[in-house]
Amino acid sequence: MTVGLDNHVPYYQLDRAGISVIGKSRLGLRFKDIPHMDGGFVIASAGTSSFDETWTQPWGEKKDIRNHYNELRVTLTDGLKRRMILRFRVYDDGIGFRYEIPEQAHMGKVQVINELTEFNIADPATAWWIPARGWNRYEYLYHKTPLRDIQHVHTPLTLKTDKGLYLSIHEAALVDYAAMTLKRGRGRILYADLTPLSDGIKARVKTPFHTPWRSIQLADTAGGLITSYLILNLNEPNRLGDVSWVKPEKYVGIWWGMHLGKMTWGSGPKHGATTANTMRYIDFAAKYGFKGVLVEGWNVGWDGDWFHNGKAFRFTEPYPDFDIVALSKYAKSKGVHLIGHNETSGDISNYEAQLDAALDYDQKLGIPLIKTGYVADGGDAIFTGRDGRVHHEWHDSQVMVNHYQKVVTEAAKRHISIDTHEPIKDTGLRRTYPNWVSREGARGQEYNAWGEPGNSPEHTAILPFTRMLAGPMDFTPGIFDLLFRKEKPHNRIPTTLAKQLALYVVIYSPIQMAADLPKNYEARPKPFQFIRDVPTDWQDTLVLNGEIGDYVTIVRKDRNSEDWYLGSLTNEKARTLKISLDFLTPGVRYRAQIYRDGPDADWQSNPYDMVIEEKTVTAKTRLSLKLATSGGQAIRFTPVSK
Ligand code: NOJ
Ligand code: CA
Repeated sequence: MTVGLDNHVPYYQLDRAGISVIGKSRLGLRFKDIPHMDGGFVIASAGTSSFDETWTQPWGEKKDIRNHYNELRVTLTDGLKRRMILRFRVYDDGIGFRYEIPEQAHMGKVQVINELTEFNIADPATAWWIPARGWNRYEYLYHKTPLRDIQHVHTPLTLKTDKGLYLSIHEAALVDYAAMTLKRGRGRILYADLTPLSDGIKARVKTPFHTPWRSIQLADTAGGLITSYLILNLNEPNRLGDVSWVKPEKYVGIWWGMHLGKMTWGSGPKHGATTANTMRYIDFAAKYGFKGVLVEGWNVGWDGDWFHNGKAFRFTEPYPDFDIVALSKYAKSKGVHLIGHNETSGDISNYEAQLDAALDYDQKLGIPLIKTGYVADGGDAIFTGRDGRVHHEWHDSQVMVNHYQKVVTEAAKRHISIDTHEPIKDTGLRRTYPNWVSREGARGQEYNAWGEPGNSPEHTAILPFTRMLAGPMDFTPGIFDLLFRKEKPHNRIPTTLAKQLALYVVIYSPIQMAADLPKNYEARPKPFQFIRDVPTDWQDTLVLNGEIGDYVTIVRKDRNSEDWYLGSLTNEKARTLKISLDFLTPGVRYRAQIYRDGPDADWQSNPYDMVIEEKTVTAKTRLSLKLATSGGQAIRFTPVSK
């Protein structure tokens, strides 16, 4: 990695094993009302250092993570004697860098209007991307195009160069700043485009401040991006102290019924969140070993056009037919708990005005986890400014970044974890705030119920290499009634049954939902056993194979036992993947419980065909995973005594 000045303008460039990866790329910041920091620099000083430590995730896809880098710190001064520090960290799997502006004369409050960071991709490449600043937030089907056809995209942006190198451009530790999106300039130059506030300013900050880390991850295989922990490494360590109260878990809930149109969030004859209905879900959870019961539509505010009426939501007022006190007690008596739900429709002022009360209320009820929601179109999250005026903001603007974090830190004070839907993208802040357990931020399962259109068979073969590089996702897998003919005859789940099981291993989240209606699980107890067994907290993760949008096979070792789990899935193409089980402990025999597509499985014509079988295997065994069209396979490996 080289950093320098070109005619007093800072730039960096990156080579790997003698090959250029990022050509000369400009750096700089522009401000309102005060001179920019985009040129006229000299290098005042530069220093290097090294760091090597292994830290432990309280929960995660891998327990121990090595954070090993060389650092370069360059202090620049401009013609006005103002200082800007560029800090670079170089890892085996990529780089991170950020701008740091110390406290100094003539720079107190600063309004950032532009960041000039470029990523000049050295080789032609294929890109997997979703559009930025669109009507939706992040919930798009991914596009696969040549890099040269990108216009304006979100990060993480995944690239595969024509030389076969895999790259992910993203950011880490997005705190009190605007999100970075990427626009393409001439040729293969991507440049940072910070999401503006509604008055056009990108970020209002005060010195000393630093930007989030801009990150470039590199790997020789697509799977190498998945097992790179650079984003987490660039984040600050846990600030919450003892977080043993943050618990990975599986949950069920009153949720899918609404998406199928069987139930309603609002009050009325089809109201889902009734006391009786919730008791049935609590019983189901207790019987089958689920810890959490999510209940949506429990509180006042859903009646009418809830999408556009966020100010109506009351976060401490249950509907009269939902006896939350009795239900919390009943849940507790059964060893389970309710999961709170705070849908805000993107009205953050209404939510913030009630936030303390809402969190106190849930804490008193023994609710350890809240799913929040910010359903509002892109650019239409609402808050009322100090001037009394209503502002319409992007979900990835600085105000929203700060709002999401405020909810997480306030919740932490009450030992409550947060699962954000319609979130700001993940930038690894779970390391610093381990109660931020999961979030959405991509098209989840719900799109298959809505079908406008539903997710494509390749969608979940793209997510692991794109959205999932940011962090955990609450995808809500495990729909067993794939066709829901009665409820929505024109829509369906675009997978085989076995692929639904594979998702529990492939799409990482410390909280995983068994999203279907209880009766659909009771109708298929054998495949349901896999969902009951699969953990959500891991010792280690390995990617055995994968190509973006085509297929992927991931194995993970349970954090609390010697078991391993495998998830493999494919896009619309059937294929056979040969794997070695050399990740298992040598010399130990394992029982493999295999859930695979049957010989006649096909997602369109025969999605339920599935074989469940047992085999004895060792580290020397090789398996052929035969995946049907949009199919999958899930395996549990358990050591058997010799
Ligand atoms: C969208 C969320 O993704 C979904 O899970 C939730 O049910 C609805 N909003 C209502 O809050
Ligand atoms: Ca959503």
